[in-house]
Amino acid sequence: MRIAVLNGPNLNLLGTREPDVYGRETLEQIEAAVQAQAKALGVDCVWTQTNHEGELVEAIQALRERADGALINAAAFTHTSLAVRDAVLAVSVPFVEVHLSNIFAREPERRRSLLADLALGIVAGFGADSYRLGLDGLVRRLHARRGV
Ligand code: DQA
Repeated sequence: MRIAVLNGPNLNLLGTREPDVYGRETLEQIEAAVQAQAKALGVDCVWTQTNHEGELVEAIQALRERADGALINAAAFTHTSLAVRDAVLAVSVPFVEVHLSNIFAREPERRRSLLADLALGIVAGFGADSYRLGLDGLVRRLHARRGV
C-alpha cells in the first residue's frame, strides 16, 4: 500500500514558525516519525512539501497512478483554493485532511475548509501527532475497504 503525504505552503518553516500555534517539531522531524510509523504499518510513504498552489495541484493530480491514499495538509490553501479542491475531486483518491492546529478554534477565515467534505476524515489540533493519527486512521480505513 502506498500513501502520499502532501504539505502546503509555509509548512517548511515548522519548528520556528509560530511555535505556540504549530509546535517546535520541524517538518523533517514529523516526516521521520511518520516514515517510522509507515514502516511499522507496512506501508510505503511518499512525502512532499510545496509553497506553490500549482505544484500542489500537480502533486494531487499525480496521486491517481501513484497512491492508494493520502494525508493532505494543504495549509492556507485549505481555506482558499478551489483549484486544490478541483484536483482532489478529479482524482478521487481517499484522503485524510490533517492540520497541526485546531482550525475550528481559530480565526473565522480558517474555520472553513474547501476539502473537508471530500475527506474520509479530519484530524486537527494535535500538533505533529495529527499526522500520526491521520496515517493510522487512513490505513485502517483502506484495509477495511479491502477486507483485510
Ligand atoms: C494549518 C492551518 C492553516 O490555517 C494554516 O494556514 C497553516 C497550517 C495547520 O496545520 O494547522 O499553514 O494547515
